[in-house]
Amino acid sequence: MRLLFIGDIYGKVGRKMVEDYLQKLKNYYKPTFTIVNGENSAGGKGLTEKIYRMLMECGADAVTMGNHTFDNKEIFEFIDRAPKLIRPANYPDGTPGVGMLFLNRNGVEVAIINLQGRTFLPAIDDPFRTADALIAEARLRTPIIFVDFHAETTSEKVAMGWYLDGKVSAVIGTHTHVQTADERILPQGTAYLTDAGMTGPYDGVIGVEREAVIRKFLTALPVRFESATGRGQLSAVVIDIDEATGRATAISRRLINDDHPFNV
Ligand SMILES: [Fe+2]
Ligand SMILES: [Fe+2]
Repeated sequence: MRLLFIGDIYGKVGRKMVEDYLQKLKNYYKPTFTIVNGENSAGGKGLTEKIYRMLMECGADAVTMGNHTFDNKEIFEFIDRAPKLIRPANYPDGTPGVGMLFLNRNGVEVAIINLQGRTFLPAIDDPFRTADALIAEARLRTPIIFVDFHAETTSEKVAMGWYLDGKVSAVIGTHTHVQTADERILPQGTAYLTDAGMTGPYDGVIGVEREAVIRKFLTALPVRFESATGRGQLSAVVIDIDEATGRATAISRRLINDDHPFNV
């Protein structure tokens, strides 16, 4: 079986890239399931119900989130009627939404887990011990387990990859918005990538209009950040998994932008 994962969809430019390319990618790679990270899809901050539906209509089977999950307050109204939405599992007990989701297609079941790191991010519950508990639960149903680990530091992500090697099919990092080139299959069969990268403006600063960010670095004064406009980029990862064992057999990453065109 094959998973297609799309990294952090950012604002209008990112949504347009999903509209333009997701179906083409699906036709080309023929994934069993398509998972997208939507934490920045509403103007960089969170998700609306309309955008959630749009992502599903474009071909997503599930939407993972991150530290921006609750930035758009509309989510408190629709999260309970968004059955394919997954927010980081290690938010405190009582947080709306779920941190793990099972999807089944033609008898193939995948567990999708979203976790958030704690280094340079809000102090929430331990993602490592939360992973242990959820994996124990998931393994009762399926060996195919995908983890979107939304974290700031490379070290926390690499550590999670090693910690979960042999326990899950894939640990894919999100949040830093620049695709890393360290894709590999760890010795016990877990596909790993430090960051999938962003699906959004190609000419901004990790999604934000670049003039404002440069001004902030130059002056240290408060600056209003707007989503960048202009050319887009899409960042994706494709993972092949042995259905019987849950071990990954291949991982490849994909960038689509004006410098890396997708001509299929
Ligand atoms: Fe993000
Ligand atoms: Fe994030």
